[in-house]
Amino acid sequence: MESPFKSDILKGKVALLTGGGSGIGYEISAQLGKHGASIAIMGRRKHVVDSAVSALRSLSIQAIGFEGDVRKRDDAIRVLESTINQFGKLDILVNAAAGNFLVPAEDLSPNGFRTVIDIDSVGTFTMCHEALKYLKKGGPGKNPSSGGIIINISATLHYTATWYQIHVSAAKAAVDSITRSLALEWGTDYDIRVNGIAPGPIEGTAGVRKLAPEEISSKRREHVPLFKLGEKWDIAMAALYLASDAGKYINGTTLVVDGGLWLSSPRHYSKEAVKQLSRTVERRSRDAPVGIPRSKL
Ligand code: HXC
Repeated sequence: MESPFKSDILKGKVALLTGGGSGIGYEISAQLGKHGASIAIMGRRKHVVDSAVSALRSLSIQAIGFEGDVRKRDDAIRVLESTINQFGKLDILVNAAAGNFLVPAEDLSPNGFRTVIDIDSVGTFTMCHEALKYLKKGGPGKNPSSGGIIINISATLHYTATWYQIHVSAAKAAVDSITRSLALEWGTDYDIRVNGIAPGPIEGTAGVRKLAPEEISSKRREHVPLFKLGEKWDIAMAALYLASDAGKYINGTTLVVDGGLWLSSPRHYSKEAVKQLSRTVERRSRDAPVGIPRSKL
């Protein structure tokens, strides 16, 4: 789909994306690049990073890739330094690296829990922490009065509770909390805007392949009328909005991009049934003598 944004809204900007070689991370890389940004991507799998960089370059996007694991502070430092060496500055950091698998809480080892916290929450904090000196106002290549932007990819799993996702729900709750704390501290001190995006289930991603295998998702559709998959494009457009000047007054929010899915719940009565029931209940309440307990109505 064509972007509704002008193609130069990020002209001259430099973005680093963790997990930028595949899935949602890659689509954000491509869309930031198509709108003028130079792109650095960081990922654990060299071949994935390499092919993403080739694909970005074939779109005439200035792109570079680095192998690295957000769980390793040294990798974070190295990749950030290399990005600055290559492009001279950093304007946008997107934390899209994540880990996930379905598992009942009772079968999840503490190390399995820790692994996802390490990737999603600690990894996000580590990248933000090491990027601060480049993103803050007056940092290398930066205007003395305006800082950069951070976008943390989150989820909606923890807004209620999600089966077999105790580890990721906890990890993403921490990510949202990191987003708000940094928005407060770094927004105030360094003019850095920090926001998040909480995608719903997005077509063609590892998230959907792992969390909603076909046999589960088709069953789920019967019970959740709103259920439909989003596109990676939807998330990339949200990222563009937050990263561009269109989002200049947005700080500390996590934008839910799920078509309203997280709000859905089973419908207990049909519309016709509820109209009947509602009128009957109202009539009974109106006609009942004062002082009759509700349970007797
Ligand atoms: C139970 C599991 C498990 C599983 C791993 N573990 N897979 N436990 N069920 N299916 C446990 C292991 O037993 C081990 O604990 C611990 O987790 C670490 O496992 P490793 O395989 O050593 O970890 P590692 O190689 O570092 O791999 C990390 C990973 C893996 C998260 C487990 O899946 C990965 O690399 N994922 C990255 C890609 C990814 O998942 N993308 C999807 C993101 S989707 P023990 O105790 O045995 O040592 C997403 C969507 C969010 O984020 C929500 C959207 C709606």
